Amino acid sequence: MIPNQWYAILPSKAVEKGQITAVKRLNMDLALFRNKQGEIGCVVDQCSHRGAALSKGKVVGDCIKCPFHGLEFDKDGKCTLVPAIGKNTTEDISRYNAKRCLVGEEHGIIYLWYGDEEKATDNLPFFDKYVDDSYVWSEMEDHWNAHYSRCIENQLDVVHLPFVHYNTIGRGNKTLVNGPKVIFEDYTIITSANNEKDVGQKPKPPEECVIRDTFLSFKFPNIWMNHISPQMKVIIYFAPVDDENTILYIRFYSKLSSVKALNSIVAFFGKYGNLVIERQDKRVVITQKPKASSYISEEKLVPGDGPIITYRKIREELKKANQTQVTTKP
Ligand code: FES
Ligand SMILES: [Fe+2]
Repeated sequence: MIPNQWYAILPSKAVEKGQITAVKRLNMDLALFRNKQGEIGCVVDQCSHRGAALSKGKVVGDCIKCPFHGLEFDKDGKCTLVPAIGKNTTEDISRYNAKRCLVGEEHGIIYLWYGDEEKATDNLPFFDKYVDDSYVWSEMEDHWNAHYSRCIENQLDVVHLPFVHYNTIGRGNKTLVNGPKVIFEDYTIITSANNEKDVGQKPKPPEECVIRDTFLSFKFPNIWMNHISPQMKVIIYFAPVDDENTILYIRFYSKLSSVKALNSIVAFFGKYGNLVIERQDKRVVITQKPKASSYISEEKLVPGDGPIITYRKIREELKKANQTQVTTKP
């Protein structure tokens, strides 16, 4: 995991008012809830008192209440009540505070800050430049028994298209990989496939390739977009569960029609179309060893793996630049 980043971890709709959502993300068991204003709280799912799962409790007012002995914690993890010592105690009860994670919410996505809270930025990674309210989107999720780095690399892999997707998006036996050209700017990798049928020609180097209108972009640390056309996009955010599991949230965006209802239908069915492609990928990606990828590796990469090499390199640089002990508060 790269420290000091906002990770997209869950759709907003997964956390409803008055309810607690228990999830595992970034190797942490978490309990998420909303206060009366609808603001999200995210605490480590282990009570500071004697370790019970807070997610088995309930939401009371602005707080999450432990099911065991009734301690209450607000959205910032601050302990607001220890019933056994009474609500009128003069004791400083901050020592009971729950461990919490910083969370943010935008575009219907909940983000978790993984790193030093003092270094948290205001920028939740998204593709604001490319999608706005003129699109309608529909979302679904899929669980992969794979490290999130492998899932992301798969979405930047132009070499696999004629093999894994031989009968769908990789039709045509275009096995020769030109380039591809890779751009990295604003924490984003941009690339596009330039594959051709092998008729004995040499592959072109990246400098002779272009970024096409249909292109891929990936924003660190875990969100990706396929620009299918100006009217259709796919966004996937890869929520890391632990070292071997990832949940993909797949969104299909449409503004093919000026009628929103028609766009809803396109988006609804579009995401299933995309799921067919993802399942072709999943079958192979879950078999990759080792589970996580790394910049220094024994894998023998080909020039067409350029986008993956860039991903590994930047990931390594960001990890080094942010080497820090990640702790949850307090
Ligand atoms: S374990 Fe939570 S209140 Fe005791
Ligand atoms: Fe694929």
